[in-house]
Amino acid sequence: MKDIDLTTLSADDWDEINSPRPEENDFDRVVERAVSRRGFLGGALAFGSGAVAMSAGLLSSTSAARAEGAANRFPFTPIDIATDSAVHVPEGYTSEVLVRWGDPLFSDGEGYDVAEGGPVAGSDRVFGENTDGMELFSYQGHELIAVNHEYTNRKTNLPAAQEGTPASADDVLKLQNLQGVTVMEVAQGENGWSVVVDSPFTRRIHHNTPMEIAGPAAGHDLMKTKADPEGTLSLGTMNNCGSGKTPWGTYLTCEENFNGYFGSTEGDGADLPEQVTAGYSRYGIGADGWGYDYHKHDARFDTAKNPNEPHRVGWIVEIDPTDPDSTPIKHTGLGRFKHENAEVVLSPEGHVVVYMGDDERGEFLYRFVSTGTWAPGGSTEGLLDEGTLFVARFNDDGTGEWLPLTPETTGMASMAEVLIFARMAASAVGATTMDRPEWVAANTQAVEAYCCLTNNKNRGVKPNAGGDETPANGPNPRDTNNYGQIVRWRPSEDNHASDSFDWDLFVMAGNPEVYPTNSYGGSENVTAGNMFNSPDGMAFDSNGLVWIQTDGDDSNEGEFAGQGNNQMLVGDPATGEIARFLTGPNGSEVTGLCWSADKRAMFVGIQHPGGAWPDGAGLPRSSIVVVTRDDGALIG
Ligand code: FEO
Ligand code: CA
Ligand code: CA
Repeated sequence: MKDIDLTTLSADDWDEINSPRPEENDFDRVVERAVSRRGFLGGALAFGSGAVAMSAGLLSSTSAARAEGAANRFPFTPIDIATDSAVHVPEGYTSEVLVRWGDPLFSDGEGYDVAEGGPVAGSDRVFGENTDGMELFSYQGHELIAVNHEYTNRKTNLPAAQEGTPASADDVLKLQNLQGVTVMEVAQGENGWSVVVDSPFTRRIHHNTPMEIAGPAAGHDLMKTKADPEGTLSLGTMNNCGSGKTPWGTYLTCEENFNGYFGSTEGDGADLPEQVTAGYSRYGIGADGWGYDYHKHDARFDTAKNPNEPHRVGWIVEIDPTDPDSTPIKHTGLGRFKHENAEVVLSPEGHVVVYMGDDERGEFLYRFVSTGTWAPGGSTEGLLDEGTLFVARFNDDGTGEWLPLTPETTGMASMAEVLIFARMAASAVGATTMDRPEWVAANTQAVEAYCCLTNNKNRGVKPNAGGDETPANGPNPRDTNNYGQIVRWRPSEDNHASDSFDWDLFVMAGNPEVYPTNSYGGSENVTAGNMFNSPDGMAFDSNGLVWIQTDGDDSNEGEFAGQGNNQMLVGDPATGEIARFLTGPNGSEVTGLCWSADKRAMFVGIQHPGGAWPDGAGLPRSSIVVVTRDDGALIG
């Protein structure tokens, strides 16, 4: 394992460190059993501990397209890997930094100095740290970007504190201010794109912003605290990872590793109700937290004093980016888990369908279908709360079903409890354990959706946190999976609200140089020229090409030799072809993607860079870059 550098640690790295799993690795056994990559793509075979029949788990169109010598649809020459501290894009394209952690969003935020650690005052007037999911909204001639700030590097933000451990309520407040969400206006001028400082739309939303709790779990006893005896008003949104966009023009921010912010000043909470402690165990809420130490200075995060506060995070939050005075809404109808993103599509009848991944080893893939329907200009009341939450079961024969989560199907006492403890509900109905579901993206040109399954070293090694066994299965076919794959499904009757689907694998990442003869070499559309590991962010452009961002091992050594820094690639769903478009600075992950209204600019997030990127000196700073074509042509 690499040395741990606290200045370049992703939230997922935190999970590794704070929830360590055994390093047991029965790799040799897997390699012996595994069959050739050509066999994987060529037809039925048995491999993995479950002897899974893979006849349907194929990328059926790849070989055919290659045989015909089809020209690809990518208007650029793919780039090589990189290992340096820079962003690279193909010839004919340019990338420039749009905004960095600590840049002022308001003129009274000027002077905030990240190198000095910055004062508390002003820490909610600047662009937050560790940019993640983002969406662009066109509104009355303005272009607004809503973007997440997933977590904060305590050590760099609190240089005066020992090892970045908060020593005061002010230290905690500063960390809280630098995370959450930014809404900002961007505009193109003579010198390219820039942030409009002091735009009337500018807003920072952080760990103390008031939020309405809506939906079936609102007001339930498990949601009530001393400060909010009604259980309907919470403070803050946190560990905002991926994003979503509703058809009616609002932003969805997704609360992922919320567990790390909580701790207890009075031990392990053994005197709490069994249901609460069982939930703590399943969601990873411990007495020590992940080192943020909020609980020592802010009682809201002390589970000894506020045992229900963790139930009020782990949700999806809706924000109106056009109204800086609006109150964000936590939609409990969408379930509570470690949310990656929220991909919203409409069924032919207008039902709102939301696909959501729970990013933890052996957890699940979910879908919500609204009871009501929406059409442009119609009411949005209740659309993200009144409906049914489902979890996916993937069968090894290439079919699958969405299993409804209700008191009847789960044996749980109420719908509120089903939603608050969605993971336990999903376990109760026998959902398929997955290799860490990250972003889901729906094809803009076909009725199908894709999910990045980033990696899972525990596949075939140990159960998930709920005790569900995790043998290799259809869409998760490799034990000790360090590379990841992308599964896609096509709903029955071309309707995302249908309860059944067919699935296959769009790509299995791997290293064909290190593993030329087995499944760890990846699927046939992975070559020495485009290989990568750990697909994470994903979005379709308006042409139906899928952009894939990675958050993996960028050591460029051993199993990962030849894969270089984290990167962004683009894939063609029709042919399976994949080409490398962008490489990030060493140490970073590439996460978050949206386009300008005219599709001539692409905004890409660079989180936790290493080196001194982008300034060339001083601290590395997470930033958004804007990529354009030198000839001014469309870029997606
Ligand atoms: Fe925040 Fe699963 O990435
Ligand atoms: Ca992610
Ligand atoms: Ca990740």
